[in-house]
Amino acid sequence: MAGYFGPSYEEMLYPERVEPDLLARARQAAGVDELDPVNLFNITWKDPEGRVRATVLPPALTGVEANIIVLLGAGFPSGSHKVGPAYTTLMEGWLDGTIIPGRHTILGPSTGNFGIGVAYVCRLLGYRAIIIMPDGMSRERYQRIRAYGGELELTPGTESDVILTLERTQQLAKDPHNRTLAQFELFPNYRFHRYVTGRSAIEAAKGWGNGAIAGFAAAPGSAGTLAAGDEIKATFPGAKVAALEPYECPTLATGGRGHHRIEGIGDKMCTLIHNVLNTDFVILIHDDHAVKGLKVLRDGGGVLADWGVGEAEAAALRDSFGVSGVCNILGAIKLAKQLGLGPGENVVTVATDGFDRYPSVMEDLERRSPEITPSVLEGWARDVFRHAVPDHVYDCRGREAKARLFAQKEKDWLPFGYAREDLGAMQHPAFWEREYARVGEYDAKLLAKRRA
Ligand SMILES: Cc1ncc(COP(=O)(O)O)c(C=O)c1O
Repeated sequence: MAGYFGPSYEEMLYPERVEPDLLARARQAAGVDELDPVNLFNITWKDPEGRVRATVLPPALTGVEANIIVLLGAGFPSGSHKVGPAYTTLMEGWLDGTIIPGRHTILGPSTGNFGIGVAYVCRLLGYRAIIIMPDGMSRERYQRIRAYGGELELTPGTESDVILTLERTQQLAKDPHNRTLAQFELFPNYRFHRYVTGRSAIEAAKGWGNGAIAGFAAAPGSAGTLAAGDEIKATFPGAKVAALEPYECPTLATGGRGHHRIEGIGDKMCTLIHNVLNTDFVILIHDDHAVKGLKVLRDGGGVLADWGVGEAEAAALRDSFGVSGVCNILGAIKLAKQLGLGPGENVVTVATDGFDRYPSVMEDLERRSPEITPSVLEGWARDVFRHAVPDHVYDCRGREAKARLFAQKEKDWLPFGYAREDLGAMQHPAFWEREYARVGEYDAKLLAKRRA
């Protein structure tokens, strides 16, 4: 790529600070020529008018008076916000001199969206990419990775078998030509979400209710997105952060493990970059509710109309979410109920991607269910959304709960060669502040390279 590499953290948060010609070219390429490298400058939560892409769910659907604000990730290049951490991890490796264009092949361990993001960014920047992922994910994911020229290395299983992908990645990483974008371990993922997503969330909430954020809910895969909660808490110290897990795979809640159908989350571990100090609650969501909830948003326009949701509002919900997005919405509703929030108070959550990568999941639901009539859809809408109750909520604010989460992290990461002292350092807020402060350091290095 001639003359530039891609945006700084600051430019992803404030695209209006990108040099005007470059920004104009990026906006022109958006959705027209997605393989033009200038699209790196479209890695942002902001739309061309400078507004954070977000929606506030109709209270008739959520059954709560508090605003449930959902940041929409489908507008990112490649169709999900995971392209952000893919880009920042590659960018930091390049700035550190550990990843060299033309010499290194990039490994992307993933359950899908991160892999899509890695394949996409590598395509734009001219790197060979190998995506290591389970073989049981939705077919739309593999198609996207191949379309971007990524090579697939499949390990057996589904979402809950991510550890097998990490083990396979560790083997492949022994080849000196390979470099791993380790989303579960490396802090560019934390930095992207704390700085870019966290501050975008704060901006999005400004237009709603009292303008503050009382709660943030997100289901961790790598736990990158959860880092937005650290920034939200830094601004609103009273805000509460909930990590959501599948009921069928409650690793953070109880150390339990199992198979589930919410792609992208519930990877049977406490990831290295998860700052558990800021996790106030773990809330479990039934995978079946997330899948059926998605069906309601897709095909339940009639039900929503009966509940007083306007046609345009209901239509806007059809394409904006995937299964984990619905899981996050359910978690946000439960958090609002748990905290007893009222009118004018805001809970923020995130839709990682949109519906485009889930038609096969809906087909599977249709095969498994008896006829899905309007009254069946209404029952699902009631049970899943309106009547959601704050059950399976684990309070993680106490010392014992924190000690259990740290123990889980050790159990998951000592086998990968991390030292106990290094993991111990993560028990102190200063560790996370130091990592966060490096945003400025990398931005300065990037701008210096671009000017050179
Ligand atoms: C669809 C989907 N939802 C949620 C997540 C979890 O996001 P994070 O890895 O930032 O925790 C992912 C991560 O890959 C994902 O692909």
